[in-house]
Amino acid sequence: MPATSNTTTTNAPLANLEEWEDFLKTRYPEGQSAPTKTNEFKATDPDKKKEQFRNYEADARPTVREFYRLNHEHQSFDFVQSKRKEFLSLNRRKMSAWEAMEYLNTLVDDSDPDTDLSQLEHLLQTAEQIRRDGHPRWFILTGLVHDLGKILCLWDEPQWAVVGDTFPVGCAYSDKIVFHQYFAGNPDSSNARYQSRLGIYEEGTGLDNVFLSWGHDEYIYQVMKDYLPDEALYILRYHSFYPAHKEGDYTYLMNEKDKALFEWVRAFNPYDLYTKSHAKPNLKELRPFYDDLIAEYLPAQLNW
Ligand SMILES: [Fe+2]
Ligand SMILES: [Fe+2]
Repeated sequence: MPATSNTTTTNAPLANLEEWEDFLKTRYPEGQSAPTKTNEFKATDPDKKKEQFRNYEADARPTVREFYRLNHEHQSFDFVQSKRKEFLSLNRRKMSAWEAMEYLNTLVDDSDPDTDLSQLEHLLQTAEQIRRDGHPRWFILTGLVHDLGKILCLWDEPQWAVVGDTFPVGCAYSDKIVFHQYFAGNPDSSNARYQSRLGIYEEGTGLDNVFLSWGHDEYIYQVMKDYLPDEALYILRYHSFYPAHKEGDYTYLMNEKDKALFEWVRAFNPYDLYTKSHAKPNLKELRPFYDDLIAEYLPAQLNW
């Protein structure tokens, strides 16, 4: 059944999910040097960082601020566990990747349909730019499916439990997370066990052992995890983990594999943030290429 505009707005401060992404683009403007192999985890001047964050926060739309407040207050360790239990048995429905794309496209929100891109168009534009740049086929497919986890919105999940920069729960919050002050309202903030640097984790444990705040990344990773190469799975699972892939934090929870594969998460980010254009992809023309690509990696039916 197609979603109505109520599906997304009842739960939520943002007029549409793109408001969060537009905010990310303000924070991380195109052309700003992304971390590379040589500078990836170089410490930035903490005072400068703090000042920048204050500016982003001051300039943010009230809707975006409210979105972060809800996200930071509600994404507790227990909340993450309850959502994993609720969704990760993947027994809601069976759909092909295309069916999921069409389903996601029924997500209608307050954005102006004449000027804003549909979810499907964002996925195709991301994939097409990756393809134009000559990247491997799995990378193109990753671009195509990376946001399919947003179908959680169609199951009445609130925006703050679908999108937003992700962060580990069960340990201290990085001070590089924007709107950090809202964590004061998270029940985990008063749990000493969760608020030391490592919290419940061990140094260098590997991100596979770390619970991140719940959202569309973890969900699509779980749907795709048996079918795509590790590089792709890292992109799916961590593409909203801005405190790590953009800010270079939480390396103390990573193992060597994480550090190596985050190279791909960083390579993906510009395609996600900066490929939105108003030139609508020609679905009819593109469909045969993507049908082949999907069939190469994915089964006819996926569990959602
Ligand atoms: Fe995403
Ligand atoms: Fe995206």
